[in-house]
Amino acid sequence: MAVTAVDAIEHVSGMYAGQRRVHARGLCFDATFTPSCEAASLTSAAHLGPGPTPVVVRFSNSNTNPTVPDGIRAGRGLATRFFLPDGSTTDLVSVNIPVFFASTPEQFLELLDALKKDPSTGAPSPEKVKAYAAAHPSAAAGLQEAARMPIPVSYGTARYWAIHAFVWDGPDGGHHPVRYRWEPDTGLLELSEQEAAGKDPEYLADGPVGFALRVQLGQDGDPTDDPTKAWPADRPEIVAGHLGITAPVTDQDH
Ligand code: HEM
Repeated sequence: MAVTAVDAIEHVSGMYAGQRRVHARGLCFDATFTPSCEAASLTSAAHLGPGPTPVVVRFSNSNTNPTVPDGIRAGRGLATRFFLPDGSTTDLVSVNIPVFFASTPEQFLELLDALKKDPSTGAPSPEKVKAYAAAHPSAAAGLQEAARMPIPVSYGTARYWAIHAFVWDGPDGGHHPVRYRWEPDTGLLELSEQEAAGKDPEYLADGPVGFALRVQLGQDGDPTDDPTKAWPADRPEIVAGHLGITAPVTDQDH
């Protein structure tokens, strides 16, 4: 399935040898995650309490083409690797939409099939994408979010969601479904298409960057196996900590 999915992505978006298969252009930064300890009664995860954890962050543009300019509406990623006290690591990947546009890998392949460029127009056929959305109504929210992705002022002025649900194992033996979101310290700052047109093709790494890790707490019956379905907006949230970017990683290739 993984090979089929990557082949299908390359068919739609192009193949660039020697690059990551998606999220091809990105930059890595050293960072520190400082937990708030609000999560400590709900999870025994080492990085969520009590002390700060070193992190490597990679911001990325989701395209397969590493030379796509920054100033367009596009997927962006915020990937974090936490270096834990016992020498192990744990990762959290997130993107700039709250829900996904396919609930299973098989649906994702169907979507890629619908997105294949029509040779007569050089663009995907809107009818095929509409047919996909009609066949999978829960995918509509993710498709709408993808169509209106912002052009941020920098990587640090966008919101990033981990999309999937996770289950925290608490110190009391309890299990708590959660969803993560990185909320920028600056608030959301966007450029219009006109403003973006005047920008350098690689401008997104400019500016100070920090994020709060906001965690939505699920309740019984909230789906934990469907990334197309948001949980109700009135679910309680906590701030599990803060991510502060310190400096670019010196060797960006490793
Ligand atoms: C069927 C769905 C998906 C497929 C097939 C897929 C596939 C991939 C592939 C092939 C890569 C490149 C890995 C590499 O070469 O290092 C990647 C990277 C990435 N994916 Fe996904 N992905 C999917 C869904 C998601 C979702 C739901 C999220 C958000 C939570 C996500 C976030 C990311 C991020 C942030 C990266 C870049 C990681 C980095 O900076 O190194 N992906 N994905």
